[in-house]
Amino acid sequence: MKKAKISFTGKEIEFIDRDIGIRQIEEFAERGVVSPIVIYGPEGCGKTALFKQAKTILEEYGYHVIYVSPLAREEREIFTYTPTIHEIVEEVFKSLLDPYSRIVDVSIKIASIVMRKLRKPRIAILMDDIFQVIGLDKAEIYTKILLNLIEYPSGDYEKIVILVSTSEGVTRWRIGRHRWADILIMWNMSRDGFKQLYEVLPDPKPRFEDVWRIAGGNPDILERLYVNRWSVDVVLRKLIDVKRLDPYFLRKWGRHLEEAVADPDYLWSGPDEVESLVNELIERNLIIFHIPPRIQELWIDTPPLEKDIEIGIGRHVAWQSPLHREAVRRALEEYKTI
Ligand SMILES: Nc1ncnc2c1ncn2[C@@H]1O[C@H](COP(=O)(O)OP(=O)(O)O)[C@@H](O)[C@H]1O
Ligand SMILES: [Mg+2]
Repeated sequence: MKKAKISFTGKEIEFIDRDIGIRQIEEFAERGVVSPIVIYGPEGCGKTALFKQAKTILEEYGYHVIYVSPLAREEREIFTYTPTIHEIVEEVFKSLLDPYSRIVDVSIKIASIVMRKLRKPRIAILMDDIFQVIGLDKAEIYTKILLNLIEYPSGDYEKIVILVSTSEGVTRWRIGRHRWADILIMWNMSRDGFKQLYEVLPDPKPRFEDVWRIAGGNPDILERLYVNRWSVDVVLRKLIDVKRLDPYFLRKWGRHLEEAVADPDYLWSGPDEVESLVNELIERNLIIFHIPPRIQELWIDTPPLEKDIEIGIGRHVAWQSPLHREAVRRALEEYKTI
C-alpha cells in the first residue's frame, strides 16, 4: 500500500506508523459504510495526516474521493479530489461565483452529481475538521445530510465511505445523541510511532524521553517544539494564551484544577460543582472527557493505555496532551504569585 505524502515541519515525509488505523480504513474501503464515521481526537493528534493517508488508500481501492479540509494550511489542500471526477468538479465550480466560500456544501453537491452521472461508482467523501468553519451548531444537521447521501442517494453507487473528523468535544455530544453517525476516538501517536516521527527531525534535539514527557505522542506539539527551537517555554506561553487561562477562570476553578492536574479522573468522580468546569475544559479543547474502554472496535488506531498519569491520561478523562496539562499548571502557579 502506498504511503501518503505528509508535510511536517515544512518538509515532505511519508505517513508514519498507525498500522491498525490503516487496516481499519482498508476495511471501510472493502465493505463501504452504512453511516458516516466521525473521528474525534485531541487537537494535533494526527487526524489530517490520517485523512491524507485515507485518501490514498481509498483511491487504491478504486474510489472517487472528494476531500475537503477547510482549515488546511495550504490553500491547494482545502479541496482535492480524484482526477476521474475532474469534469464534474469543473462544471460545478464554473457555475458558482465563489465555490470556496461554501466548500462543504459544494462538495456534497459534487458527490450527489457523481452518484447520478457515473455508473455505480465507489465514492468517498472525507470531511476534515469542517465544523469550526460551518459552525459547531450545524454539526448535527450536516451529519444528517451526509447520512442522507448514504441512505437516499441521488443515484446508484457500489460502495460509499464517508469520514468526518473533529477535535471539538462539543460536536461529539451533539452528533452522538442522534445516532446519525458512528463515532470513533483517535488518540495521539503510540510511543513507537512517535519515536519514528522524532527520528525524522535533525540533531541537535532533546532526548526522546524528555520530548515524550512533554508531547505525550502529539505530533503537532512535536512540530511546534521543533519550529520554536525546542523552547518548551515559548510553546507553553502560546498555549496558555490561546486557551484563555486568565485570572477569572483560574480564580473560579483553582482548587479543582489543581486536583485535575494531579489526576484527570478527579473530573469524573469529583463533586457536583465540577460539572461546569468539565464543560469549560471540553469547550476549550483541553481535555477529552468520557474516554471509552480501550476496546479496539471503539477506536481508530491504537487506544492509549488504561491509565498513564505521567502523560495525563486517566481511565475516563485525559488531558489532550501533557503540554495542555502543563499550561494549566503553569497558569495556576503564576496566578497564585500575583
Ligand atoms: N502519521 C503521521 N505521519 C507523519 N506525520 C504526521 C503523522 N501524524 C501527524 N503528522 C504531522 O503532525 C502534525 C500534526 O498533525 P495533524 O494531522 O495536522 O493533526 P490534527 O489534524 O489532528 O490536528 C502535522 O504536521 C502532520 O503532518
Ligand atoms: Mg487537522
